[in-house]
Amino acid sequence: RLPTIGVDIGGTKVAAGVVDADGRVVERLRAETPDKSKSPRVVEDTIVELVLDLADRHDVHAVGIGAAGWVDADRSTVLFAPHLNWRGEPLQQALSERLRFPVIVENDANAAAWAEWRFGAGRGEDDLVMITLGTGIGGAIVREGLLERGKWGMAGEFGHMQVVPGGHRCPCGNRGCWEQYSSGNALVREARELAAAESPVAEPLLGRVGGDVSAITGPLVTEAAQDGDPVAVELLHDVGRWLGVGIANLAAALDPGRFVIGGGVSAAGDLLLGPAQDAFARTLTGRGFRPEAQLVLAELGNEAGLVGAADLARQVARRFRTVK
Ligand code: BGC
Ligand code: NA
Ligand code: ZN
Repeated sequence: RLPTIGVDIGGTKVAAGVVDADGRVVERLRAETPDKSKSPRVVEDTIVELVLDLADRHDVHAVGIGAAGWVDADRSTVLFAPHLNWRGEPLQQALSERLRFPVIVENDANAAAWAEWRFGAGRGEDDLVMITLGTGIGGAIVREGLLERGKWGMAGEFGHMQVVPGGHRCPCGNRGCWEQYSSGNALVREARELAAAESPVAEPLLGRVGGDVSAITGPLVTEAAQDGDPVAVELLHDVGRWLGVGIANLAAALDPGRFVIGGGVSAAGDLLLGPAQDAFARTLTGRGFRPEAQLVLAELGNEAGLVGAADLARQVARRFRTVK
């Protein structure tokens, strides 16, 4: 029952932690995600530094990486990452060579879903879909206690379903992707656009950043909304509405019992979930004639990704031991 290390690599933050067998985080560290213009090696360096730092103080036996990208079926190569500099990146091999532990790589949202299913808001529901709202939208499907990974490992890329024909450009190369309308980036883009339009309704928001439009962030909008700023409430409402519409589409395709909503934007709580529930109920196909899935907030918050990655690593490490 030795602890394992989990690392969650998102578009803006790298979070690492030592996690015990019950999913509790014993120690945590954070770093900024190196700029997208830097080589993949720099992201690797950041991971290695955090892991070695933690391993100095804890007796760990495996490392799990939750990566914001499309991880192949062998859980070793990141084939593509819209928000990071990974193109066919052999992350598992590169890290195994630099660390003295078994390493597994999993998609960040898959890792978060695993954590919520084992220890959080997904407990007791064997037909689960997870949505994480961060830089982009992450997605994952857990069915009968297994992560559904698809033929090539990249099932659950819900963020890149087209919801607006001809809509906003996405770093994946397409237009109108769901994550362009319902994510931390979407929230920030809309808030900054409104502020830049010099609309008087954005004055309270601008006041918080001394008039500097580029200083508006997602957490800042959430804070303003929680303080009752009507325009911030509206911005979160729009993100929530798009969330509900997308979830209704997922319900049509996958019919899970529960949707768990996590990632940074989910810190807005009911300011996000309320509008999402309304839009979901309004958009669900066959509404009124079918059971409806629950929409709930993640319980492990921003730590779900690292907790899940650590727990997945534990399972693999255990398998290694019995094989030997
Ligand atoms: C990526 C996913 C990732 C998600 C959340 C999306 O843009 O395509 O692989 O899980 O962002 O980080
Ligand atoms: Na996924
Ligand atoms: Zn896209």
